[in-house]
Amino acid sequence: MNALDTPAPAPAAGELAGRTAVVTGAAQGIGRETALLLARAGAARLILLDRDADRLQAVTKETGDLGAETVPLAVDLRERDAVRGALRTALRAAGPLHILVNNAGVADENGPDDEETWLRVLDINLHGTFAVTAACLEHLTDHGRIVNVSSILGKAGKMRNTAYCASKHGLIGYTKGLALDLASRGITVNAVLPGWIDTPMLRREIAASAEEIGADPARMLRQARKSIPLRRLVEAREAAELIGFLVSDRAAAVTAQSLTVDGGYTRGM
Ligand SMILES: NC(=O)c1ccc[n+]([C@@H]2O[C@H](COP(=O)([O-])OP(=O)(O)OC[C@H]3O[C@@H](n4cnc5c(N)ncnc54)[C@H](O)[C@@H]3O)[C@@H](O)[C@H]2O)c1
Repeated sequence: MNALDTPAPAPAAGELAGRTAVVTGAAQGIGRETALLLARAGAARLILLDRDADRLQAVTKETGDLGAETVPLAVDLRERDAVRGALRTALRAAGPLHILVNNAGVADENGPDDEETWLRVLDINLHGTFAVTAACLEHLTDHGRIVNVSSILGKAGKMRNTAYCASKHGLIGYTKGLALDLASRGITVNAVLPGWIDTPMLRREIAASAEEIGADPARMLRQARKSIPLRRLVEAREAAELIGFLVSDRAAAVTAQSLTVDGGYTRGM
């Protein structure tokens, strides 16, 4: 282990005992780590949604082995009727819902006049989050928890990323508004803003950028690490840890907030 690496933190065993959670984008990356963390913390039932049926099945086995009864929903967020139908069936069977983590997202680049990508990215990242949340609301208990996974690009711009930036800025606004709508029931709604998390999404982005400018992806990765004050990429499980805190009883007074996990990359922005 590198001296700057952190040991895997032990989740508070049993902290989420008996809870039911929905996690979207759970087949890999931050969503998978979140599902595993919830299972380790004692969640009784997990409803995991992702369009990647094979990887979702593998995560379902992992969380099942950790003791969480897990229902995989292999649907694409863009197929709204299928999403609503699958969630309705799963939630009716599961009983009250305590936790919703809206994590699924895509980071496709677009030029300023590329409407097709604009509509697709907004459809998945922003409207997809709305649709899942709307379908879950009637099942969510008082004092329930919602976490929306935005991005450091929810607060800043990036070239060739108008769609992604707009979707992630939108999620922060959505989080703040929804937090006020649900506050009287003790439900908290917060946004997590990851940056430079070592996931398949980041590896794809770095490979694509390197190819575009004819650079070596390994060199770009080294440069990325250097630009981060902690001198390393943040692990997906570390983003999951922040989500785990926000859905716990310890965070009952934290709502309408946007919390960044980026190794200091944005210098406290
Ligand atoms: N990795 C980073 O550096 C980083 C930085 C900022 C924000 N984020 C955000 O964190 C979240 C998770 O990112 P990640 O890095 O784990 O990504 P990832 O690509 O590794 O995983 C995303 C998951 O979402 C699923 N998904 C995507 N579109 C879907 C759709 N239409 N329907 C159903 N499932 C769909 C994918 O199949 C995949 O399993 C995303 O919202 C992303 O924007 C990541």
